[in-house]
Amino acid sequence: MRILIIGGQGTIGRKVAAALSASHDIIIAGRSKSDISVDISSAASIRECFQRLQRIDACICTAGTGYYGDFDAMTEEDMRPGIQGKLLGQVNMVLIGKDFLSPGGSFTLTSGIAAEQPARNGTTVALINGAINSFVLGAAQELTSDRRINAVSPGLVEDSLERYGALFPGYNAVPMQRVVNGYRLSVEGAVNGRIIKVYE
Ligand SMILES: NC(=O)c1ccc[n+]([C@@H]2O[C@H](COP(=O)([O-])OP(=O)(O)OC[C@H]3O[C@@H](n4cnc5c(N)ncnc54)[C@H](OP(=O)(O)O)[C@@H]3O)[C@@H](O)[C@H]2O)c1
Repeated sequence: MRILIIGGQGTIGRKVAAALSASHDIIIAGRSKSDISVDISSAASIRECFQRLQRIDACICTAGTGYYGDFDAMTEEDMRPGIQGKLLGQVNMVLIGKDFLSPGGSFTLTSGIAAEQPARNGTTVALINGAINSFVLGAAQELTSDRRINAVSPGLVEDSLERYGALFPGYNAVPMQRVVNGYRLSVEGAVNGRIIKVYE
């Protein structure tokens, strides 16, 4: 398969890319250091990316993040970048990308444990991840030509403990291999409309 991984240079994305590259052609996309440049916060940039690539058999997104900060002081402006990037970026990846996705192909979005277990100061991320999961449930009913869509919802990954561990006291970190397998299940398996939770 010809697989596009947006965010494929990131902590999770590069491990997913490494695992899939054994049997597929991988194209890494991101704002920097990538095979092809894309900024998912811009619909025009997403469209340009797909127009350059044309046919894709699977499209994975492991890009984006959201605001962490004091709830009492949080404003709409704090929330907007994550909503525009991780949420609407992945939604637009599907709305635009479906015209370039082969019959039988798949989209794999990334949400996260915060959809169900938000950390303190993490309400924006909870909102974004929950919305991604709900979008996947709806879109799975709409895609045609045997095309599938799933979300991988990782828990705190062991590889990110140093970077994010302090934000998630009491969370059990999950091995990267389990997260990678979530993406493989979505791309190489037959599941559709699933939230693949890698924390239960
Ligand atoms: N790591 C965890 O423990 C964990 C747990 C639960 C959920 N998640 C979710 O999993 C996803 C990946 O996490 P991660 O830790 O691998 O993140 P990461 O290490 O920060 O990597 C994110 C990647 O996405 C790219 N990116 C960021 N913004 C972008 C944009 N607007 N357009 C295109 N590319 C963009 C970055 O590259 P450039 O800066 O070069 O564009 C980078 O390669 C995120 O959605 C995160 O919320 C992660």
